[in-house]
Formats: sequence, structure tokens, C-alpha cells
Amino acid sequence: MAILITGVAGFIGSSLAKRLLNAGETVIGLDSMTDYYDPTLKQARLETLGTFRNFSFYRQDITDLDALDALCAKQKPRHIVHLAGQVGVRYSLTHPEEYVSANIVGSFHIIECAKRHKVEHLLMASTSSAYGANTSFPAMETDRADHPLTIYAASKRASELMAHSYSSLYDLPVTMMRFFTVYGPWGRPDMAPFLFLDAILNKRPIDVFNHGKMSRDFTFIDDLVISLQKLLNCPPIAGEPLGEFDSLSPVAPHRVVNIGNSDPVELMDFIRAIEKATGMQFQMNMKEMQAGDMVDTSADTRLLQALTGLKPATSVESGVRKLVHWYREFYNL
Ligand SMILES: NC(=O)c1ccc[n+]([C@@H]2O[C@H](COP(=O)([O-])OP(=O)(O)OC[C@H]3O[C@@H](n4cnc5c(N)ncnc54)[C@H](O)[C@@H]3O)[C@@H](O)[C@H]2O)c1
Repeated sequence: MAILITGVAGFIGSSLAKRLLNAGETVIGLDSMTDYYDPTLKQARLETLGTFRNFSFYRQDITDLDALDALCAKQKPRHIVHLAGQVGVRYSLTHPEEYVSANIVGSFHIIECAKRHKVEHLLMASTSSAYGANTSFPAMETDRADHPLTIYAASKRASELMAHSYSSLYDLPVTMMRFFTVYGPWGRPDMAPFLFLDAILNKRPIDVFNHGKMSRDFTFIDDLVISLQKLLNCPPIAGEPLGEFDSLSPVAPHRVVNIGNSDPVELMDFIRAIEKATGMQFQMNMKEMQAGDMVDTSADTRLLQALTGLKPATSVESGVRKLVHWYREFYNL
């Protein structure tokens, strides 16, 4: 019985696939290989997965329901981990329609196929951005998430709500995972850790928004994929909440889980960690806050701990060292 990972050529999808394949699982990967960022990085990630016999790859778009349905009919996945989507908070200000297509229409197709093919557990990627204008931190899964600040956040929140309706109508076990700023080796070139590193190593200045007065709950990729691997075996059971902090729906096997480090780091401290790991110094352009950005994010991870026994805890110093090591090797610097 196989695990279908959508977005398998992506940062998180490829890292999760590698971990599951190493653990002896059979993984079916799907990705449409969008060119939102350098597709050769996606190709290189896929090449590392191609060495496993129990991995198969389908270049498909989740907006094509018939093709997705045919894939599920053929492969009969027991679990689906849905990570494909249009990512990036800032890009959503200029390309909102891509988020509606991939994250709302595409995610609906995944939910529909999970129902049709009686998937035992559907796990879907959501985001800390779903907390939107909420200012109470650390954010709990039971906090209100009704005020998204971007179409990216709104599209992810919409997928959470669509999944709830199917979970309740068809008894489909769904875990929505709200990720908090994931970074590490094989990371995304559009995100600050990668952009900063690329700039310092190539002696270019960086833009630091809100004059550096921001904090993020940076989550190291290995902590994240170990959590996902454990969550696969924790399908929600309706009527069996784990405690007063559980976000389990009162009417359906559907829950939302934060995956974060629960230890927010000031942006300037993150920047210093990169300087320390590279032995170089940044030139910084201090800028105003960007539209749609959140000033702080921080996760309450009690639910993740109760479900998996895990608490992501890799320090920024250690995570950044591993990122720098990978980057230098991959780009021959
Ligand atoms: N990385 C983070 O910090 C972070 C934070 C919060 C949420 N997330 C969510 O986690 C998921 C994975 O993120 P990531 O960082 O690995 O991003 P990524 O861009 O590296 O991976 C997403 C993959 O989805 C594929 N894709 C996009 N549209 C598609 C479509 N219509 N059909 C098929 N494939 C498609 C892309 O080609 C890409 O390889 C995303 O849903 C993202 O919104 C990530």
C-alpha cells in the first residue's frame, strides 16, 4: 500500500519522500514542475529520489481531475500527503489567480479523489499565514483564523474548510498541517533563508523588511518531515479529542495541527546566524514593512507533541550551519 505525495519535487515533498523511502515505504510522487522558481533544483531533488526502487513519479497537474482520479485508481494510495500548491506570500499579491487554481481547485480535486478512493488518511499542507490578523501568540490551532491577509492565506484556509466538509459528509480522516517558515538543505530559493545566503555568498546586499523588527518560528526541515512521518499514523478519530487544546472537529475526523519550533527567533538573530556560519558580513538595505506580511509568527505545539511525542527543537545556529554546508556543496561554492 503506497503513500501518494503531491508536490514531490518541492522542498518539503522531496525531503519527506526521501525519509519515507529510507524507511522502506512505497512512495508515488506527483508534481507538475511549475517554473515559479528554478525547475533545475526540482529536477535535482527528483534525481535523488530516482535512486530508490520503490519510488515512482508522475508529472501531472492537480487541476486535472480525470488524470488524478486515474492515478489514484491505478495506484490505490493508502495515504495522501498533499503538499503541491502555489507557494509564496508576496507573489500572491501579483498573481492571485494561480493560488485559486492550484490551492483551491487543485486541493478540491485531491479531497474528491481521497473520498472516491477511500484513502485512510489525507494530510494537507496549510500555513501559519492562516492566522492572518490574529495577534495572540503563540498561535493555537483553536484560535480564530477568519482574517487572512493575502490570497495565499485565504486559499489555504479555504482548503482547510473544504476538507472539513468532506470529512464530515464522508467520514474522511483529514489532518491539516499549518507549517511555520520551514528552512534547510534543498530549500526554496524564494524564501528569506535561501535569498539571504545566496546574497551573502555572492556579495550582494539584502533587503531587510520592517527594519528587521520581525520574528519567525523557523522550523528545520528534518524536524518537520519526522513530524509528518509520525502524523501519517495518527488519523483523527471523531469524538476522541486529546485534550482541551485539541482542534478536533466536534462532528468529523478532521483536525488542524501546527508544525513549528515554538521558539520564535528575531529576524536579526537569524541574519547573524548566517553571518556566523559563513564567516561573512551582510550589507543590508533597511526597508518598510511589506503589504501582506505578518510581523511575528509563533506556534503552540502542544497538540503536535500530544499526537507524536515530538517537539521540533533544532536551533537556528545548527540548522543554518547545515543549510550553508548543503548550499556550498550543491552550488560548488
Ligand atoms: N516551506 C514553507 O516554509 C511552508 C510554510 C507554510 C506552508 N507551506 C506549504 O507546504 C507545501 C509545500 O511547500 P514547499 O515549501 O515544499 O514548496 P515548493 O514550491 O518547493 O513545492 C510545491 C510543489 O508543488 C508543485 N506544484 C505547484 N502547483 C502544482 C499543481 N497545480 N499541480 C501539481 N504540482 C504543483 C510545484 O512544482 C512544487 O514542486 C505548500 O503547499 C506550501 O504552501 C510551506
